[in-house]
Amino acid sequence: MKPLNKDSEKKKNIIAKYNSTSSFYDDRYRIIQNSKFKLLLKNFKFDNKIILDAGCGTGLLFEFVLRYNQRIFNRKLKYIGLDISWKMLKQFLHKINKVTSIKHVDLILGDIENLPFREDKICRIFAVTSLQNLHDIEKGLRELIRVGQQGTSFNLSILRKNLNLDNIYSYLKLEIADLNLTRLETVEDVIIQGNLLKKN
Ligand SMILES: C[S@@+](CC[C@H](N)C(=O)[O-])C[C@H]1O[C@@H](n2cnc3c(N)ncnc32)[C@H](O)[C@@H]1O
Repeated sequence: MKPLNKDSEKKKNIIAKYNSTSSFYDDRYRIIQNSKFKLLLKNFKFDNKIILDAGCGTGLLFEFVLRYNQRIFNRKLKYIGLDISWKMLKQFLHKINKVTSIKHVDLILGDIENLPFREDKICRIFAVTSLQNLHDIEKGLRELIRVGQQGTSFNLSILRKNLNLDNIYSYLKLEIADLNLTRLETVEDVIIQGNLLKKN
């Protein structure tokens, strides 16, 4: 068997890390993640479009939205949660199963750097504290851009520690209109929002 390359090695470790912390993830991180969701959703309007939650984990974003507005999920809005850790997704599934009225949520075991979607399929993208885990953030961003449509809203929250923000900013500036960065002392992530400019 071929030895794992650096990328696969890192992914294997990430999967193991999140699989092993999935059962207590919510208790440990709910409050801090909720503070990021509040910022991300400040000017966000829900409509009947396809939302991708990339690196959705246990579904804290979904739970947050549901708590404030259950009606959102009774519409035709489609919510896709994608994560590389099946145990994090299992926790998410428990949440969905508790709400019988919810029909339009799909969970996918997958990798942000190799998204299992065709071009131009997704209308709203969230990636909350997931992208800093990638071996190659730019590859992940390229994938999110590939699957997004012209005008797709990007709502990213990335852990600031060890992040090369200048590189990410320069890259996204070419792809995203109205690019907005928020850095707050009280939040460990940088919040990046804007709308996708699709070049044909
Ligand atoms: C800090 S958690 C954040 C989870 C969730 N977004 C939240 O706000 O609670 C990071 C998540 O990213 C996922 N992740 C890491 N690398 C990934 C990859 N390459 N593709 C998909 N998910 C990934 C992890 O499995 C984990 O669930």
